[in-house]
Amino acid sequence: MILVAGGTGHLGSCLVQRLAAGGTPVRVLTRVRARATHLHSPAIEIVEGDVRVASDVQRAVDGTQVVVSAVHGFAGPGGVSPASIDREGNRTLIDAAVRAHATIILMSVVGAASDHPLELFRMKDAAERHLRASAAPWTIVRSTAFLETWIDLMVQTTDRSGRVLVFGRGDNPINFVSVRDVARLIERVIADPGARMETLDMGGPVNMTMTSLASAVQRAGPDVAPRHVPPSALRAMSLVFRPFWAERARQAAAALVLDTIDMRFDPAAIRARYPDLPLTSPSDVIAGIAREKDQAGA
Ligand SMILES: NC(=O)c1ccc[n+]([C@@H]2O[C@H](COP(=O)([O-])OP(=O)(O)OC[C@H]3O[C@@H](n4cnc5c(N)ncnc54)[C@H](OP(=O)(O)O)[C@@H]3O)[C@@H](O)[C@H]2O)c1
Repeated sequence: MILVAGGTGHLGSCLVQRLAAGGTPVRVLTRVRARATHLHSPAIEIVEGDVRVASDVQRAVDGTQVVVSAVHGFAGPGGVSPASIDREGNRTLIDAAVRAHATIILMSVVGAASDHPLELFRMKDAAERHLRASAAPWTIVRSTAFLETWIDLMVQTTDRSGRVLVFGRGDNPINFVSVRDVARLIERVIADPGARMETLDMGGPVNMTMTSLASAVQRAGPDVAPRHVPPSALRAMSLVFRPFWAERARQAAAALVLDTIDMRFDPAAIRARYPDLPLTSPSDVIAGIAREKDQAGA
């Protein structure tokens, strides 16, 4: 039995569906059962619980051989934060998995470090360090930004003219990866005992700017410039919102960092390790999303 904490999310859903389709029994930990209605298969068991509650976590972990942590607290419902989910929630999951003698696959971010300007990256680093010091067999999978997540976010900001909103200048090259390819890597890692006690960095085949992704995604088409929230407004948002809307302040601060630090990545090493791992291009991901939308509307 494999537990996927975060099995209702972008990455988790994809992984759970792949595992179940291959006949592997998989348990999904979610705070709200209704978020898992798209995960229907006799191989899937849904368990309600919160990674902030140790007894919920132990109940979900008991009887499993592998625990995949695909949770995060950067944004989302329930008053989550990187400290409470990415650091503390992951510590609780890791400790429960050690007691259950399970292997742990931890989802982290490329660039996680204790001195990173973003809290999320510092909290992922704290979880990584807790895991490396634990008695469990483990693999850490660090990923660059998920294309599907960013495309979703961009589409939500579309105005009446079909233009999307870019937070910041949007001219910094960033590596984006398809969540489906990351799910394929986790599947490989689960089955590969040679990947234990290793940290694997995963990213997509292209580095591109937020502005070019927005232009490719927006209904207005690639020849129309997307709208932008200027860095000065992001700076103000990150300060003004902090006392009463932490999530929005975090998002503004993150947009500023994404606009400035080196977010490029070369997937050559992960490709060399798993040569048949798919690395889908952004244009293929965008075309796939459009096809799915057409089929759903037909
Ligand atoms: N998105 C990216 O660009 C990106 C890049 C690199 C790495 N990652 C990592 O990849 C993993 C998956 O990210 P994603 O974007 O696919 O996530 P997502 O779609 O935003 O979903 C977040 C998941 O976290 C779960 N979760 C949050 N708080 C929880 C809590 N207190 N108790 C139990 N579950 C909780 C949610 O479950 P319920 O709401 O059902 O409870 C949901 O399944 C995360 O570890 C993330 O840090 C993401």
